[in-house]
Amino acid sequence: VEGLKPAIVFVGFMGAGKSRALRAAAAAGLDAVDADELLKGELGMPVPDFFERHGEAEFRGREEALSAGLLERADGGAIALGGGAVLSARVREALERHLVVWLDVSLEDAWERAAGREDRPLAADRGRFEKLFSERRPIYEQLADAFLPGGGGDLAERALPSLTALTRLPLESRLLWASSRSGEYPVFVGAGLLGAGFWPLASRRFCITDTTVGRRYADSIAPLSGRIDVHPGEGAKTLAEAEQILRELARAGMTRSDHLVALGGGVVGDLAGFCAATYQRGVPVVHVPTTLLAQVDSAYGGKTGVDLPEAKNYVGVYHQPVAVIADTTTLTTLPREELAAGFVEALKTGLLAGGRLWERVRSLDSLEPAALGDLVLDCARFKTAVVAADERDAGPRTILNLGHTVGHAIEAATSYRRYRHGEAIGLGLLAALRLSGAADLRDEVRAILEQRDLPTRLDPSVEVAAVLAAVERDKKRTVDGLRLVLLGRPGEPREDRDVDPGSVREAVEELI
Ligand SMILES: NC(=O)c1ccc[n+]([C@@H]2O[C@H](COP(=O)([O-])OP(=O)(O)OC[C@H]3O[C@@H](n4cnc5c(N)ncnc54)[C@H](O)[C@@H]3O)[C@@H](O)[C@H]2O)c1
Repeated sequence: VEGLKPAIVFVGFMGAGKSRALRAAAAAGLDAVDADELLKGELGMPVPDFFERHGEAEFRGREEALSAGLLERADGGAIALGGGAVLSARVREALERHLVVWLDVSLEDAWERAAGREDRPLAADRGRFEKLFSERRPIYEQLADAFLPGGGGDLAERALPSLTALTRLPLESRLLWASSRSGEYPVFVGAGLLGAGFWPLASRRFCITDTTVGRRYADSIAPLSGRIDVHPGEGAKTLAEAEQILRELARAGMTRSDHLVALGGGVVGDLAGFCAATYQRGVPVVHVPTTLLAQVDSAYGGKTGVDLPEAKNYVGVYHQPVAVIADTTTLTTLPREELAAGFVEALKTGLLAGGRLWERVRSLDSLEPAALGDLVLDCARFKTAVVAADERDAGPRTILNLGHTVGHAIEAATSYRRYRHGEAIGLGLLAALRLSGAADLRDEVRAILEQRDLPTRLDPSVEVAAVLAAVERDKKRTVDGLRLVLLGRPGEPREDRDVDPGSVREAVEELI
C-alpha cells in the first residue's frame, strides 16, 4: 500500500449514478474502472442468470474478491463499486486509504431508475428494495469522505476538481456538495485545510476579516490582492461599515472577475457576504469560517446582511458562496466563551434534526476542537439540505429560526452588546421550548446550557417591554400575526402562525 496514491471511489445505491460519475472521471483523464462491468465479464453471464444459478452468496463472494483486489492494488484513478460491495468487511478495510465519494440518491429516485430493469435482480420487489436501501444507507454514510447528491445528472463532472483537490488535502478532510436553486458549491471540512496550499478559485482574492482573525490567519490564505480588517464584534455589521468596505474595494481596483474571501466568524461572513452580493452587483465569495458558530451554521445557505439599530439582520440579500472552507484547527484559538456560544447553533441544529445528530449534540462531552469535525460536518449537512429544499425562507427553511425570534429580540433590546449571538439564541431556545409546551426538553436544554456556562436567565436589567417590542418588529412578523418555530420533540419542528402575544410575554418574563 505504501507509495500508492488514493483513488476516487464512487459508492452508492442502485441508480445513484456511479457509472455516470465514473465516465466523468474518465473524461477528465483519470484511469477509470467500473467494478460492476468487470464483474459481469468475469461471471461470464448476465447477473440475474448468475443469481439464479449460483445464488446471491456466491455472487457476493465473487464481488468481494474482485472489488477488494481492485482497491488494494489501485494507484490513483477512479473506481465505481457495485452497490452491495461495501457489505464486505474486506472491501471496507481496503477503502480506508481511498477517497470514498457517496452519491446519495433518494429512495424514490433510486426506485424510479432501477425498478423493472432486467439487469437489476434486487429491484424486482419494492419491499425488498426499501429494506436494502435502509440497510445500506448508514454504511455508505459511515464510509463517505465526500457527500454528493446522487441521481445522475452531470454533477460529478462539476464536482471533480473539488474531489481531486480533496485527495491532496490532509487525510481526515471531507467534502460536502451544497446545492440550491441559485447555486451550488463545495464545502470542505477538516483540520489543517488552511495550511495545505489549496484554494478553490484561481482569480485574484480580496479578503475581508476582523483584526483578531486577520492577524492570526490572513497569511495562511495568501496571496491576497487586498485585505480589509474591521473591528471584531457585532458592531461591525452596519451599513456604514459596508459602505467603507465597498469604497475600499473600489479604490483597490477589485473587479467582477476577482473574488472576495470572508475570513472570520458569522459577523464577518454576513458583512462580507453582503458586500460580495452588492459590489458591482455581485462578485463570488469564498467563506472561511473561523468560529464554531460560523462552521456549524452561518457560513452555509447564503444569507447575508447587516443590522439596523431598530432590528437585527434587517438589511440583506441572499448570495450563495462559491466555496466554504471550514478548517477546524482555527477553533483552537477561539476563546472558550465563543466556542460555547457557537455550540448553541449546533444545539439548535440537533434539536431540529433529531435522531443521530441530536444524540451527538446532547452527549458531546467536550468542545475540544480536535473532536468537533464530525459535529461541524453533520450540522453543515443538515443546514445545506434544508436550504436546498427552500433557499429563500418561503417554507421549510423557516424552521432554522428556532429560538431566533426571541433571541434576536434580546440582542436588539440590549443594543447587541450584552450577549453574544449564540448566548441570546440559547435564551431564545428556552423561550421557544416553553411556548412549545415541551417542559422536559426545556429542562434538558437548560442543563446543557448550564454545563457550558451559558446564560439560562435574562439579566434583570433587560427590559421585558424592550424585548417584546423587538419581537414585534421581528422580520418574521407578517400580516398573519407573529410566526414562531415551535418544537415538541427533537426532530419535529413546526411553525405556529398565530402565536398569542400574551404567552410570548410570559415566556420572556420567565427568563428573568
Ligand atoms: N447568515 C446566517 O445564516 C447566520 C446564521 C447564524 C448567525 N449569523 C450571524 O453570525 C453572527 C455571530 O457570529 P459569531 O458568533 O461567529 O461572532 P463573531 O464573528 O463576532 O466572532 C466572535 C469573536 O471571535 C473572534 N474570532 C473569530 N474567529 C476566531 C479564531 N479562530 N480565533 C480567535 N478569535 C476568533 C472574533 O474576532 C470575534 O471577536 C451574528 O451576527 C449572527 O446574526 C448568521
